[in-house]
Amino acid sequence: PKLWLVVPAAGIGQRMQAECPKQYLRINSRFILDITLSRLLDSVPFSGCMVALNSADHWWPDTGASADRRIQTCTGGTERSDSVRAALLALAEQVAEDDWVLVHDAARPCVHPGDLHKLVETLSDHPVGGLLAAPVADTLKKVGKGTNPEVLETVDRGHLWRALTPQMFRYRMLVNALERAHESGHRVTDESSAMEFSGNMPLLVEGRPDNIKVTVPADLDLAGFILSRF
Ligand code: CTP
Ligand code: MG
Repeated sequence: PKLWLVVPAAGIGQRMQAECPKQYLRINSRFILDITLSRLLDSVPFSGCMVALNSADHWWPDTGASADRRIQTCTGGTERSDSVRAALLALAEQVAEDDWVLVHDAARPCVHPGDLHKLVETLSDHPVGGLLAAPVADTLKKVGKGTNPEVLETVDRGHLWRALTPQMFRYRMLVNALERAHESGHRVTDESSAMEFSGNMPLLVEGRPDNIKVTVPADLDLAGFILSRF
């Protein structure tokens, strides 16, 4: 089966509170979206790449990626899962049912080539697919309501992992899982949760904890530092 790449990049970056969506902020004078796409496309031989953009996006033509013939674009949706569904639909004519799709957040420019290879190699014979994830490092508290809530209990973090991207699934299984979640009104914040909702159990592949999602202003400096090291 072939490998395809889907990059949801249709968010508005509300938590970043910048003058443009965070994927168009620059790190070392490059757009975050350009860094993310080149790291992915330079590491894995994808057959094609679909980037979901906001309908109000007017920054894309300024990216280096917009001149890359391997990359196609489509219009995303209200939620991240809507953007991913739109991108998968836009690929429909080109893919085979059991081809692999890697879905990766535009806002994760620090993804490491070693992790990409590890994910693809580990899952190549897996019936469902899976995702990069990292064990939780902090002690976790379950709390009550309010701004400074009371601690109810400490949660055992031994079996808790943070979901990262890329997440890698078979094209048809993923489309069906996302459609089913959408039709049931079940909100999914990543592809794995849609697969779980359909009763398919994805595999966790341990990834580097520095594959951060650039979310708040402080993450820009952090991502710049991480990128300076490899
Ligand atoms: N995304 C998308 N379509 C949406 C919402 C999000 O394609 N309707 C993308 C974002 O562009 C981002 C990724 O999904 O690359 C992860 O989402 P998130 O980090 O939440 O980005 P935003 O939604 O843009 O940020 P915020 O939640 O702070 O508004
Ligand atoms: Mg969001």
